[in-house]
Amino acid sequence: MIIFSYQLILFFVFFLCYLSNGEAKPVGYGYRIQSAGIDASGKLEAYLHLIKNSSSFGPDLQNLNLIASFESKDRLRIRIADSNKQRWEIPQDIIPRQNVDFAVNHISSLENQFISDSNSDLIFTLYNTTPFGFSVARRSSGDVIFNASPDPSDSSTFLVFKDQYIQLSSSLPKNRSSLYGLGEHTKKSFMLVPGDQTHTLWNSGIGSAIVDLNLYGSHPFYIDVRSPSPDGKFAAGTSHGVLLLNSNGMDIAYGGDKISYKVIGGLIDLYIFAGPSPELVIQQYTELIGRPAPMPYWSFGFHQCRWGYQNVSDVEGVVAGYAKAGIPLEVIWTDIDYMDGFKDFTLDPVNFPLEKMKNFVDTLHQNGQKYVLILDPVYFPDFLNPGGREFWRNEIKTFRDLIPFDGLWLDMNEISNFIDPSATPFSNLDDPPYKINNAGVRRPINNKPFQQHLSTFIGSGKYTAHWTGDNAAKWDDLAYSIPSILNFGLFGIPMVGADICGFSGDTTEELCRRWIQLGAFYPFARDHSAKDKKRQELYLWDSVAATAKKVLGLRYQLLPYFYTLMYEAHTKGTPIARPLFFSFPQDIRTYEISSQFLIGKGVMVSPVLKPGAVSVDAYIPAGNWFDLFNYSHSLSADTGKYMKLDAPADHINVHVHEGNILALQGEAMTTKEARRTPFHLLVVISSRENSSGEVS
Ligand SMILES: *[C@@H]1O[C@H](CO)[C@@H](O)[C@H](O)[C@H]1NC(C)=O
Ligand SMILES: *[C@@H]1O[C@H](CO)[C@@H](O)[C@H](O)[C@H]1NC(C)=O
Ligand SMILES: *[C@@H]1O[C@H](CO)[C@@H](O)[C@H](O)[C@H]1NC(C)=O
Ligand SMILES: *[C@@H]1O[C@H](CO)[C@@H](O)[C@H](O)[C@H]1NC(C)=O
Ligand SMILES: *[C@@H]1O[C@H](CO)[C@@H](O)[C@H](O)[C@H]1NC(C)=O
Repeated sequence: MIIFSYQLILFFVFFLCYLSNGEAKPVGYGYRIQSAGIDASGKLEAYLHLIKNSSSFGPDLQNLNLIASFESKDRLRIRIADSNKQRWEIPQDIIPRQNVDFAVNHISSLENQFISDSNSDLIFTLYNTTPFGFSVARRSSGDVIFNASPDPSDSSTFLVFKDQYIQLSSSLPKNRSSLYGLGEHTKKSFMLVPGDQTHTLWNSGIGSAIVDLNLYGSHPFYIDVRSPSPDGKFAAGTSHGVLLLNSNGMDIAYGGDKISYKVIGGLIDLYIFAGPSPELVIQQYTELIGRPAPMPYWSFGFHQCRWGYQNVSDVEGVVAGYAKAGIPLEVIWTDIDYMDGFKDFTLDPVNFPLEKMKNFVDTLHQNGQKYVLILDPVYFPDFLNPGGREFWRNEIKTFRDLIPFDGLWLDMNEISNFIDPSATPFSNLDDPPYKINNAGVRRPINNKPFQQHLSTFIGSGKYTAHWTGDNAAKWDDLAYSIPSILNFGLFGIPMVGADICGFSGDTTEELCRRWIQLGAFYPFARDHSAKDKKRQELYLWDSVAATAKKVLGLRYQLLPYFYTLMYEAHTKGTPIARPLFFSFPQDIRTYEISSQFLIGKGVMVSPVLKPGAVSVDAYIPAGNWFDLFNYSHSLSADTGKYMKLDAPADHINVHVHEGNILALQGEAMTTKEARRTPFHLLVVISSRENSSGEVS
C-alpha cells in the first residue's frame, strides 16, 4: 500500500474474525417468515424463525431480522441480523452507512412481499416459502440478478446463520453471467472461471506470485455482466454489482450457475448496485464505499525501487544512472534498508545517515524528483483507537520534519507474526468450527507466514494506492498483472500497478523489456526488486533502456490524460485501467479478455506476454483504431475480431479508438518539466458519431 501524502490518515483494517471447515450433512434447514411488513418509507422488515436446529458448525441463531431498503434508486440493501443480540459489524467510521431515507412506492401481495420504486429498475421480493427466500430482479426485463430463493431439494440454497458460520447462496443464469472481482487473488483470468474453486477472502501475507490463494486484501464485491438470451429478452452488457459488506474470513464458491458465501462471523449486509452499465456499477459502488483518493500529478511519473540498496551513494548512483540514460525517473524509493535495525522512523546511522539523507532528498527536490520510503511495522498500534491514529500521525510528522519524504509506502500492514502456530493455544476465534481455505489449507487462521505485504479492504481507495505485492520475474506474472490491476479498478483503488520486471527471482533482458512496455501503461508504474537478486534498473540493458525511453515517452505525453482519468476516478469512481467491456459492453467477446485493457474510454493496450513473440493476437473491437506511436498506422474492424499485430522487440501496441479526444503534452524527464511543454489535443474523428473527451 502506498500513501502519497503524509497527511492522509493511515489506518489498518483488522479482521476480527473467526473460523471454518469442510462439509457434511445439511449444515442448516433455513428459516421461515414469522411476520413481515412494509413501513411508510418503503422499508420492508421481516422476522425470521429457525425451522430446525442443525448440529454442524455450532448452534443456529433462532431469530433473525431482515430489512430490505432502497438507499438510492440504484442501491438496494438487504441486512439480516440476529434479532436478539448485536454482532460484529464494520465500524461506521471506516465505512459510513448513513441511514438513507429514500421513499419508495411499494406494492405488496399476500403471497410474497415486494418493494420497488417508480424510479428504480430493481425490485426486491420476499418469498413466504419454507424455508423463506428472496430475490432481486430488474423491473425492465424481469432478469433476476440475485436469487436467494430456496431449492427445497438442495439445502445449500438455504440461509444458515450461526455464530461462526453464515451461508448465503444465489443462483445465476447459466451462460449469461460473467463475474469479475472477489479479491484479492492472483488469477490467470480476469473473468472468474466457474468451477469448484473457492475464492477465499482473508488478508494474508502470501506472495502474489502464487495464484488463486487469498492474498493481502479482502474485497467481497463482484460485478456481473450479462450476456443476451437467445430469445432476445435480455440485452447484452447489462451489469450489476453485489457487495457482501462483511470483514470476516469467508469462502466464496462460484459454480457458474450459483454463487455461495460461507462466512465465519458478522452478519449479512448485502448491497445490490443496479448499473446497468459496468461504469455505472462502479460509480454506484464507490458512492457507498468512498471515492478513490486523488493522487498527485507526480505519482503518474515513473518510480524506481529496490529492496537491497546499500547506502545513500548507491541510491544516488541509481538516480544518476537514469539521468545518464535519458530515461525519465520521477520517484526513487527505499525499502527497509534505510532503517536502523529495521525499526520504523529510524535511519541507519552508518549507511543512511541523517545529513546525507537530507542532502540527497534536497537534491532530488531541486531536480523536480521525489522520494518515498517504506514503513514496515510488525507491531502496530490499534488504529481503530483514535489514540493509535494520533500516535502514528505524530510519528510520521516528526520523521518528516527530519527528512522531507514525499510519500509513504505501507507494507506488512495486516496481522502477521512469527509465532509457530503449533505452539499456540487457540481460541474459538482462531480455530472456528468452519475452516476457510486459508492459504489453500483448512486450518486455524492465525498461521501467517512472514512476508512483505500490503493490505487493503473495502473503501481503502479513499486513502491509498496499491501495488499488487510480491510477484515474480516470470512471464506468467507479467500476464497475471493485467487481471490484478483491472480488479483493483473494480475495488475502487484505481491507482495500482505490479512490480515492473518482477519482484522475486532474476529477471531477463527480454522479460524486463516486455514488462516496461506494459508497465508504462499501468496507472502506477514502478520497477521494484527483491534483495539478493540481480539488479533490474531499466538502464542496465541497452534494449530495455531504448524501449523504456520510447514507452515512458508516450506515458509522459499522456500524463494529462492519466490525470484527467484520476479526476474522473476521484469524482465518479470510474477505473483508470479498464476492461474492454467497459467501453464495449454489447460485444460479448470482450468479456473473456485478460490480456488487453483500456486506459480510460478509448486507449487500448495490447502487450506481448510471451517469450520470443514478435506479434500479438489482439482482440480489436469494432471501429477504427490508431497507433499512438505512429498515427499513420491504423486498424479497422467492422465488427470486433482478433487480429495479428506486429510487435517487434521494441514495440507495444497502444491504439486510440475513433471518437476520442486526448489532451497531450510533450515528453520530459520529470512531470514538472512535462507540465511546461505545450498542450495539444489529439482529436480522433469518428466515422459514425460525435467525438468526445474530457480535458483537465
Ligand atoms: C434449538 O435448540 C434450542 C436449544 O435446545 C431450543 O431452545 C430451540 O427451541 C431449538 N429450535 C428449534 C427451531 O427447534
Ligand atoms: C450453456 O452453454 C453450453 C455450451 O455452449 C450449452 O451446451 C448449454 O446448453 C447452455 N446452457 C444453457 C442453460 O443455455
Ligand atoms: C555503498 O555501497 C556500495 C555497494 O555495496 C559500496 O561499494 C560503497 O563503498 C558504499 N559506499 C559508502 C559510502 O558506504
Ligand atoms: C509512421 O509510419 C509510416 C508508414 O509506415 C512511416 O512511413 C513513417 O516513417 C512512420 N513514422 C515514424 C515517426 O516512425
Ligand atoms: C452530435 O452533436 C450534435 C451537436 O451537439 C448533436 O445535435 C447530435 O445529436 C450529435 N450526434 C450524435 C450521434 O451524438
